Amino acid sequence: MIIEPRTRGFICLTSHPTGCEQNVINQIEYVKSKGKIDGAKKVLVIGASTGFGLASRISSAFGSDAATIGVFFDKPATEGRPGSPGFYNTAAFEKQATAAGLYAKSINGDAFSNEIKEQVVNLIKEDLGQIDLVIYSLASPVRTHPTTGTRYKSVLKPIGDVFSNKTVDFHTGKVSEISINPAEGEDVENTINVMGGEDWKMWMDALQSENLLAEGATTVAYSYIGPEVTKPVYRNGTIGAAKDHLEATAFTITDDLKSIGGKAYVSVNKALVTQASSAIPVIPLYISLLYKVMKAKGIHEGCIEQIQRLYSERLFGGDLALDEKGRIRVDDWEMREDVQAEVNKLWETATTENLSEIGDLEGYSNDFYNLFGFKVAGVDYEADVNEVVNVPSIQ
Ligand code: NAD
Ligand code: NA
Repeated sequence: MIIEPRTRGFICLTSHPTGCEQNVINQIEYVKSKGKIDGAKKVLVIGASTGFGLASRISSAFGSDAATIGVFFDKPATEGRPGSPGFYNTAAFEKQATAAGLYAKSINGDAFSNEIKEQVVNLIKEDLGQIDLVIYSLASPVRTHPTTGTRYKSVLKPIGDVFSNKTVDFHTGKVSEISINPAEGEDVENTINVMGGEDWKMWMDALQSENLLAEGATTVAYSYIGPEVTKPVYRNGTIGAAKDHLEATAFTITDDLKSIGGKAYVSVNKALVTQASSAIPVIPLYISLLYKVMKAKGIHEGCIEQIQRLYSERLFGGDLALDEKGRIRVDDWEMREDVQAEVNKLWETATTENLSEIGDLEGYSNDFYNLFGFKVAGVDYEADVNEVVNVPSIQ
């Protein structure tokens, strides 16, 4: 079939297998071009099919020749209905990994559930024995708690006061004022239950209790801080409370891993266009200004550049350069004073009329379409494609 983008708000209902495959190939080529990383050899990535998790899987496999197990929650294609991009990305990744002689297996299902943890435990027992790196890169709006069955929904709200600021509809370029009401009831607890550290710890407990973590095993989860303008709705809001919990959990897990000399870290990454971040109000306007400034300074990075640098310079580069809260910072270039000062100045003046000039709306929009395999250079979108693509390890 011929597949075209069909967007509704900040989601795209279709995705393109050839475009997704090309994105994966481009990321692999980037990692290879940077040379080998003396990193982990048996890697589990939870949230492995898109964004930072996919970049982590690719960096492990093609930077360090690692065997990888990837866990994600994606929709396979059916006749006449394209699958979700994570499914196509994983199909492409496995194809490339296998061709390169690398072990790669994938599990599609709810990572928050006991059942999926059990499947992963069994797969590690059968195939890899022990894991030396666990990347935790889930972004989800909901979580069903595995022991109580309660279904929690996360919200993106400020805590305390109404937050009003500018935002942009990146499809139309229209800049407008939005107001977001503060969290109420159990909003904060619910968001912590979804995006906090409890599930990360459950994964590590499950692996450790079955003796599936190698001596000195490391685990890394991803976090975000961001600028002053988004602070009320992001870092000081409900999602920030969840990130605080996630960051605190790193210390708990490190304690748990003492007997094997293991460590848990949080890496604070840069703001990027992903399916998760497109849904957060105000962030798209910030990202479009940030992209403009960082590209002009020659320091723009995407997910793959971020994770390749995280691996080569921090995790396996001998200098974690932890901040005062014990976090790895690859948002260091985003947070540079000169970058933030320029973004702030642009923020003040941004309007519908000038945004296409002072911001990188085109870069934002392109990245958004790229997430779904559209507008990828070199792909022939007129060509008939088979929408049903299988992930080789998933039957
Ligand atoms: P993403 O949406 O691209 O990726 C999320 C991944 O989680 C996908 O592989 C998806 O299939 C998987 N997933 C979601 N729910 C699942 C479930 N129930 N079971 C199994 N898999 C599930 O998101 P991302 O932007 O790469 O975010 C990953 C992490 O990085 C998050 O913790 C996010 O807060 C953090 N982060 C993001 C940004 C950003 O700007 N995008 C910046 C810094 C940190
Ligand atoms: Na991810």
